[in-house]
Amino acid sequence: MTAECIKISEMSRHVGQEVTIQGWLYNSRAGGKVQFLIIRDGSGMCQGILEKKEGAEELFQEVKHLGQESSLRVQGMVREEPRSVGGYELALSDVQIVHKTQDYPITPKSHGIDFVMKNRHLHLRSRRQWALARIRHTVVEAIRNFFNSHGFTLVDTPIFAPAVGEDEQTLFNLDYFGEDVALSQTGQLYLEAAAMSLGRVYCFGPTFRAEKSKTRRHLTEFWMVEPEIAYIDLDGLLEVAEQFVYSVVQAVLKDRQVELEILERDVRVLQKIKPPFVRLSYTEAVELLHSDKVKLFLEGQLQQKQEQVKQLEDHITQWTGEQEVSKKQWQKDKLSQQIQQAREDINELQEQINNIPHHMELAAGFRWGKDLGGSDETIISQLHEQPVFVHRYPKQAKAFYMKPDPLEDRVVLNFDCLAPEGYGEVIGGSMRQDDYDALLARIKKEGYEVENYEWYLDLRRYGSAPHGGFGLGVERTVAWLAGIKHIRETIAFPRMMGKIYP
Ligand code: 4AD
Ligand code: MG
Repeated sequence: MTAECIKISEMSRHVGQEVTIQGWLYNSRAGGKVQFLIIRDGSGMCQGILEKKEGAEELFQEVKHLGQESSLRVQGMVREEPRSVGGYELALSDVQIVHKTQDYPITPKSHGIDFVMKNRHLHLRSRRQWALARIRHTVVEAIRNFFNSHGFTLVDTPIFAPAVGEDEQTLFNLDYFGEDVALSQTGQLYLEAAAMSLGRVYCFGPTFRAEKSKTRRHLTEFWMVEPEIAYIDLDGLLEVAEQFVYSVVQAVLKDRQVELEILERDVRVLQKIKPPFVRLSYTEAVELLHSDKVKLFLEGQLQQKQEQVKQLEDHITQWTGEQEVSKKQWQKDKLSQQIQQAREDINELQEQINNIPHHMELAAGFRWGKDLGGSDETIISQLHEQPVFVHRYPKQAKAFYMKPDPLEDRVVLNFDCLAPEGYGEVIGGSMRQDDYDALLARIKKEGYEVENYEWYLDLRRYGSAPHGGFGLGVERTVAWLAGIKHIRETIAFPRMMGKIYP
């Protein structure tokens, strides 16, 4: 290979030139005297066209029988071709096979989610997973950019934690040289100490929670970014949170158009996101859940989903018929993929349909004082186009460190940010209890070992100041922006109950 080596993403700058690309064979298709190769190199995908030429029959045959995911170097002339993947293609003059692959387990035919998750180390090479990884990258980059450009200092907080940070029920306990400690559920408590030194700080790292239920929103290991700010009030926190979320949405819209398109994300709903977000007190949220508006909305959903199921069933019948008469293998594969997807969608819809009466009951019977459940959040977020800040939850339902509202002692100065379209909570945050006596009393009431919290109480003994912050979960944010149902695909190697391989 003599030509300059470039990335597929750079092809637009090399039209008319001979170039080399190094990558993997994503797919291949025969077309008489030519072979169409879809090549990926990590930066993008392109089509390479190899013609059967005199004197090069052997290479042509070898390439024709190359298995999916063989690694190769190719050389060819870059041409503009709007119909081709990525808009450019390569007229191949040479192919160098780096490694021949046979029987790659993940074929263009469709596989069930359990199968691909067991093969996650290979699954990452698929177009969809490639797109998701790049969206996640941009989300993380935008998160760092926002805090770095708004006067925050990064502080890395420990992962071995000697005390409850958020919720006793979800602690991962481990033996630390004979001492019981847990994996960190939040960096917040340590961050509060750092905020008293640096004013505005943030931490960004892995977070661990022994979530014993399998839901589409819960991982046992996830990434959370947490800012903490000294001398702020709840309104101020909400303003930071909405500017922050807005900046992340904008970055993804700007830098990840191709990826959003691959995922068939309806970007119009993201384009509408703009501060100010909706503000709804918990008490108002409960009233909303009890209202006819919610009842009518859920009844409408039920009907809509039943119609969708019917439509999908009709499609399956039609595609099955087409499959029987289609002659080309790739057409059959494509149809079988569509059918499999439709079946999965039907199962999912059916489950949602079965759940609606239950969710209706939960909403109508919701009692003031409980934490909002997943289905309640889903309903509230489906009723709004903008993210919703639900603020001032009942004290009894929330963590020990939250500061009660001086105007209404039964609620705390906290908020959750619910992403629209039913995605639900992406941020949890609050003002912190800064009064020594009140905090001590609450720690005792929870039955925590006061000794473990002496350092935390010191922050209220020496120069206590009003402060607050919040935490945003990266995976839930990526799932929302990418428009995917389950957060298991938003991280390279997800950890959930019953899922630790690979
Ligand atoms: O609401 P949470 O529990 O808040 C805290 O941990 C606070 N200490 C944050 C703070 O004020 N500094 O969690 C914050 C966010 C949630 O809104 C959600 O996005 C994410 O973390 N999260 C999870 N993501 C995936 N899987 C889980 N099991 C999650 N639990 C929380
Ligand atoms: Mg929360």
